[in-house]
Amino acid sequence: MNVQNITLLAIESSCDDTAASVIQNGKILSNIISSQDIHQQFGGVVPELASRSHQKNIVPVVDTALTKAGVSKKDLNGIAFTQGPGLLGSLLVGNNFAKGLSLTLKIPLIAVNHLEAHVLAHLIENPEMPFPFLCLLVSGGHTQIVKVNSPSNMEVLGKTMDDAAGEAFDKSAKILGLSYPGGPLIDKFSKGGNPNAFQFGIGKVLGLAFSFSGFKTSVLYLVRDKMEEEATFIQNNMSDICASIQFTIVNYLLSKLKKAAKHTGIKHIALAGGVSANSELRDKFERLAVEEKWKSYIPAFEYCTDNAAMIACAGYYKMLRGEISPMNVLSFASIKV
Ligand code: KG4
Ligand code: ZN
Repeated sequence: MNVQNITLLAIESSCDDTAASVIQNGKILSNIISSQDIHQQFGGVVPELASRSHQKNIVPVVDTALTKAGVSKKDLNGIAFTQGPGLLGSLLVGNNFAKGLSLTLKIPLIAVNHLEAHVLAHLIENPEMPFPFLCLLVSGGHTQIVKVNSPSNMEVLGKTMDDAAGEAFDKSAKILGLSYPGGPLIDKFSKGGNPNAFQFGIGKVLGLAFSFSGFKTSVLYLVRDKMEEEATFIQNNMSDICASIQFTIVNYLLSKLKKAAKHTGIKHIALAGGVSANSELRDKFERLAVEEKWKSYIPAFEYCTDNAAMIACAGYYKMLRGEISPMNVLSFASIKV
């Protein structure tokens, strides 16, 4: 494959954002996202509504991505899409759209793993990133510590046994009556709050595994008990409650990451996934990196939460390796083990 000659369109439709991006010879030319506000009123993503919105949005989002990149369909020599994990109905919209375009334009189809793409998002701004590096991947559906040996070789060293870190943020926010997704709101309300105001229990699991289901229950019980004494407990203490929630989750994540770095001896350490947009996680990670003498890597905000540029980047590396997908490639909802 001629490295100078790759122009890929990428589609991301794993959850509630319809996104498209164009990458040319490793450089992102456009990165367009259409977020679906419709789910806010339901306190979480409604899968059927998400698929329908993807169907409505995908053509205009792709058109915008091509126009912004200054590229026409005939310039494309590959189309990448998110294969999974994610909501199956949502994934199928991207999968079928990509297949249609691949057949019509007679260009290769490239199926991309969403989690690998979150990790490889680092290569967008940092193509010379050294391998191996450790990556704390924290999103709405997954929490993992990954040893990244190369763009095509990753080992999961530890993962959550139940909820993901993003879910812990979102479910805690829901208990506080905040809208979906709650992570960014907890981040916002934490500013100026006392992180030691309230204590929450968090999963004491061995090694590099995580558990968040008990944490959510701990938030629920504290709020319930306090509200019995004071009906306006949440309104009166929003900032302190959010700061305490965020403090507990962030410290937990970083304690496991520190353990993984010690265990592997790796000093190049990265964050990825939607929760890596969290301001306290970013700050404390940077401070820990100084203490531990790590070289730290955090993606720009637009490459932390779901986006198609990361799919484009992962697709680009797959295309360089000649990993083209067959026309009958399936989507998958959960991680393949
Ligand atoms: O990676 P992502 O966009 O989608 C998935 O692949 O799941 O991650 C979404 C998650 C949501 O749970 C959202 O609440 C969380 O990322 N998130 C945050 C922040 N921004 C997004 N959590 C905490 N603080 C933030 N600033
Ligand atoms: Zn994601």
